[in-house]
Amino acid sequence: MATYAVEAVDLVKTYPAGRKNPPLRALDGLTVSVGEGVVLGLLGPNGAGKSTTVKILTTLSRADSGSALVAGYDVNRSPDRVRRSIGYVPQKSSSDPMATGLENLVLSGRIFGLSRQESLQRARELLDRFGLTEHGDRPVKTYSGGMQRKLDVALGLVHRPKVLFLDEPTTGLDPEARADLWNEVVRLSGQEGLTVLLTTHYLEEADRLAGQLAIVDHGRIVAEGTPEALKASLRGDSVHVELVDPDTDGTVRALLGQLPGIGEIVVEGNTLRARVDRGATAVPAVLGALEDKAIPVVAVTVSRPSLDDVYLQHTGRSFRVAEEAA
Ligand SMILES: Nc1ncnc2c1ncn2[C@@H]1O[C@H](COP(=O)(O)OP(=O)(O)O)[C@@H](O)[C@H]1O
Ligand SMILES: [Mg+2]
Repeated sequence: MATYAVEAVDLVKTYPAGRKNPPLRALDGLTVSVGEGVVLGLLGPNGAGKSTTVKILTTLSRADSGSALVAGYDVNRSPDRVRRSIGYVPQKSSSDPMATGLENLVLSGRIFGLSRQESLQRARELLDRFGLTEHGDRPVKTYSGGMQRKLDVALGLVHRPKVLFLDEPTTGLDPEARADLWNEVVRLSGQEGLTVLLTTHYLEEADRLAGQLAIVDHGRIVAEGTPEALKASLRGDSVHVELVDPDTDGTVRALLGQLPGIGEIVVEGNTLRARVDRGATAVPAVLGALEDKAIPVVAVTVSRPSLDDVYLQHTGRSFRVAEEAA
């Protein structure tokens, strides 16, 4: 029997109306499970419901309905046990910028009930593990963004949790610091069998870091699997056509729709994306058809399906457009 570190079933969460906004159904029957020792990425654009999910699973918020077990404990019935079994690294850092890295870690250990001695030992261990030993005595406000984020993750690990929740761990980091943190997370899950649930709105991060992906859209999981399996489930190739003018009257869409072996055409402004059986034969056919009608084109590219194509397939819009709408 498979063991799950996280099992959430049919979570619904509605935020009440404010003065300007109507009530908002942030989670609309979200179901997700994470196997023990797995790194699961919850991928979705801003506003998809990722942080709301994490807050419910970490007992910081309550769902209107649905159920969730974390480390085997019910989040509603045994919130204390859940809290003792998990580490939570919020989207915004919770470290004290005026205190040193070491002080932050020691304080966190004390809050979790470790003795002074144990706290200090654990703090040194974690500084070492994250390559922060030589910076341990500096105030956190002097740390780079990448160092701060590593310290945040270390703070989530002080009490040796079974499940670690990372909400947008690399948002705002430069590519190098981001890659560095990815390596740390992979190492943690590999060496210690830690289960990690992380949220991200970076397609590349989801692709590189997560063993398993769950794609969230409007408070629901629309697709799940390994990044490879999700991409492989789309047959053929993706064609992107960048037009000089937007296809406002649908001429281009209709024109390309008549070509053989082309389908699932989506137009967003000046770009048109479609799935084709074979990229190599589709490109000349697409260019020929556009040239016949004297429709100017900036570029046509063909590629293997990406996670963005997976997202498009399941939501009807590209990730970029979903982000812009948020
Ligand atoms: N405390 C809140 N009150 C009202 N609306 C909220 C609150 N928190 C989040 N929302 C709304 O719920 C939706 C989901 O938010 P969130 O879970 O933060 O998404 P994500 O983390 O994927 O960006 C968004 O539309 C957001 O504006
Ligand atoms: Mg969020």
